[in-house]
Order: sequence, then structure tokens, then C-alpha cells
Amino acid sequence: MELRVERDSDVDSWKEVILIYNSALKQIATKLEILNDEFQHVHRYNPIEHIKSRIKTAESIVKKLKRHGYESTIENMVKYVNDIAGIRVICSFTSDIYEIADMISNQRDIRVISVKDYIVKPKDSGYKSYHMLVTVPVYLSDRIVDTKVEIQIRTVAMDFWASLEHKIHYKFEGNAPDHIRDELVECARMVSDLDDRMLSLNEQVQRFQKVYQDS
Ligand code: GTP
Ligand code: MG
Repeated sequence: MELRVERDSDVDSWKEVILIYNSALKQIATKLEILNDEFQHVHRYNPIEHIKSRIKTAESIVKKLKRHGYESTIENMVKYVNDIAGIRVICSFTSDIYEIADMISNQRDIRVISVKDYIVKPKDSGYKSYHMLVTVPVYLSDRIVDTKVEIQIRTVAMDFWASLEHKIHYKFEGNAPDHIRDELVECARMVSDLDDRMLSLNEQVQRFQKVYQDS
């Protein structure tokens, strides 16, 4: 399995494409950091716990193209693989997720291509997260390239669940025994409950602080 990068010109375009995706990731990461800093300044509070970003490996790109029945060319990967540049934003509370999503969507140079809200409608596995596919313009010396970035936004608790589920998925190659799947679904329910309770607790604390400050 290989991407077709046989000629020198192909190697050059592969390098250029990856450079563009990397630049797009940097742009989105910077936008998120600015929003987080501003939030700290205005509300004395950081909605973002941390940010992780990654570029999909050539191997996974080829696998995905194959799975969808496309030839492994650079053109096809740019056209059909939407998560070559991926960024994951981890927040404390569910409400932070929607605030961040709104703030990003409202930026003039960002175009939202699609949104998948697995918080309102979790996957059968129990997976919860808010996914946005956006484009951001990357300014090169001679042109501007609107570049796709997949943004996944989730709480710390959702992230904890997703990383264990991911490990289990790999270990059993997608065929985990029923009792493990059931246990994961139950844990996902507990994660949702925990997120709801932590949010409500935080709201109570904030109201209390306000009353205290106003008095
Ligand atoms: P791929 O899953 O990447 O082929 O794309 P898709 O079009 O099905 O998009 P989707 O929004 O369903 O998933 C994109 C990404 O979300 C995945 O690559 C994972 O990072 C994450 N994800 C989706 N479903 C699950 C899940 O059930 N468990 C975990 N741990 N992660 C998931
Ligand atoms: Mg999927």
C-alpha cells in the first residue's frame, strides 16, 4: 500500500500538500489559543483544557481511500479525505464546547462545511463529541488555498472514555465481546451524568460567587 509518489514532481507535491495541512492546523490552533486567552482576560476562566493536533499518516490516508474505493493519488486524498489535518479540543464543561464551536464558526475566514453533534445524538458505541469540518485559508507566496481541518471538541470526561474505547476497539480489531461493549455503553452513560452534574455544580458555584461579589 503506497500513495503514488513515484516521480520527483509527485514527491514535491506530497511535501507541499503536507506543508499546507500543517499550516492550516497552526492557524486553527492559534485561533483557539487567542479565544482561550481572551476568555481568561474577560471571564477569568479558561474554557480549553488542552489541544492536540495531528496530521494523518500516509498509511492511514491510503487505507481510507481504499475503504472508499478510490485510487491512492494526491488529488483523491485532498478531495475525499476530510481528516488529514485533525485538531482535538478538550474542555471542562459541555457548555464550553458549544461556545467554542460558535466562536470558531463566526470567524470571517472560516467556512463550516459540516457539523456532527454526537453529544445530542451519541453513536451506538456510546461515543460523544462535537465534530466540525471547516476550511481555513492558507496564504502561500502565489496563492491562497482553502484547507480542510477536522475539529473534534469534547469534555475531559468524554475524552477519557473515547481513548479507552479506542484502545479496546484496536485490541479486539473492532470485535470486542458483548460484555465489554455493554460495559462501555454503561460507562458512557456515567460520563454523560458526570458532565451534567459537574456543569450544574459549576453553575451553582458561579451564581454563589456573583451573589457574594454583589453583596
Ligand atoms: P472516519 O470515522 O474517520 O472514517 O470518518 P467519518 O466520516 O465516519 O466521521 P466520524 O465523525 O464518524 O468520525 C471521525 C473521527 O471521530 C474518528 O476518526 C475518531 O477519531 C472519532 N470517532 C468516531 N467514532 C468514534 C467511536 O465510536 N469511538 C472513538 N473512540 N472515536 C470515534
Ligand atoms: Mg467513522
